[in-house]
Amino acid sequence: MGFPDIRPRRLRVSPAMRKLVRETSLSPSDFIYPLFFSATLSEPNPIASLPGVLQLPVKMAAAQAREIAQRGIGSVILFGLPKTKDPNGDSAIDPDGPVPRAVAEIKSAVPDLLVVTDVCVDEYTDHGHCGVLRERKNTGELEVDNDATLDVLAKMAQVHARAGADIIAPSDMMDGRVARIRQALDQDGFESTAIMSYAVKYASAFYGPFRDVADCAPKFGDRAGYQMDPGNAREALREASLDEMEGADILMVKPALPYLDVLREVRRASNLPIAAYNVSGEYAMLHAAAAAKMIDLDRAMMEVLTSIRRAGADIILTYHALRAAELLGA
Ligand code: PBG
Repeated sequence: MGFPDIRPRRLRVSPAMRKLVRETSLSPSDFIYPLFFSATLSEPNPIASLPGVLQLPVKMAAAQAREIAQRGIGSVILFGLPKTKDPNGDSAIDPDGPVPRAVAEIKSAVPDLLVVTDVCVDEYTDHGHCGVLRERKNTGELEVDNDATLDVLAKMAQVHARAGADIIAPSDMMDGRVARIRQALDQDGFESTAIMSYAVKYASAFYGPFRDVADCAPKFGDRAGYQMDPGNAREALREASLDEMEGADILMVKPALPYLDVLREVRRASNLPIAAYNVSGEYAMLHAAAAAKMIDLDRAMMEVLTSIRRAGADIILTYHALRAAELLGA
């Protein structure tokens, strides 16, 4: 035998051969597409920092759902822009709020499209934090009151489930919220409604564009008192196993790209389906680089989505879903 004995390039000779041996595949049914519904807009409103993503009036929910389902995408996740905000986020539990109304419209227009709802009060509080505030006992400093926030989250989950949500997705990072939401749903007869917990959610700079679209940037301080420190990976396993024990059906890691190592570890540690959120800043970065003619958007997008699947995600929440589904030819 001549040198070299082993030739990996044999398996790369043609598109058909490369396709045969490809280890990781993408399908539109892996994607969850985020949608933002406003209680007040009558026309769609584009947001500069998140190209292609719109704030939508609720009356467009059915049409959006049909378009998304037609591309082969199986699920959407809904966020709300309410009419009013106050310190306790009362509009989050309004059954006539933009999210419950959009859920009902989507489920009646396209019953097979799975509807996930984000459960967190940051879009509904006037201060923009993910919970009810209190003064810390010894210092008087404002902080998010974990246990008082659980009551609001449980009610919010019930409102979404009553409207027809298939999956409740708490993104607040309060301790004990999965158990509390599970209990509230079961009490209300919704034991078949699933929970996808944002189990491992980091305090990340990559949420910037989302906060413009969802109008939920904190008015003071930051979220480091409840979201995770970027340096921690063991803590991610602790958060993931707590949520699994509390009854989560699907675990999420967020953001995706700067935490692919964490995603892989969570995949290994749990037998639950694992989701990853390819967040707004990750999406906006590709668009900005492509607009500056630095990279090819479609190729970079497919490479990024493949990397997230390869690292261990079964499910990807992504603003790229529509375009990626188009390229996948669904
Ligand atoms: C909180 C929430 C956020 C995102 C999803 N749910 C923002 C935050 O934690 O500040 C970010 C998603 C993204 O950046 O695409 N309700």
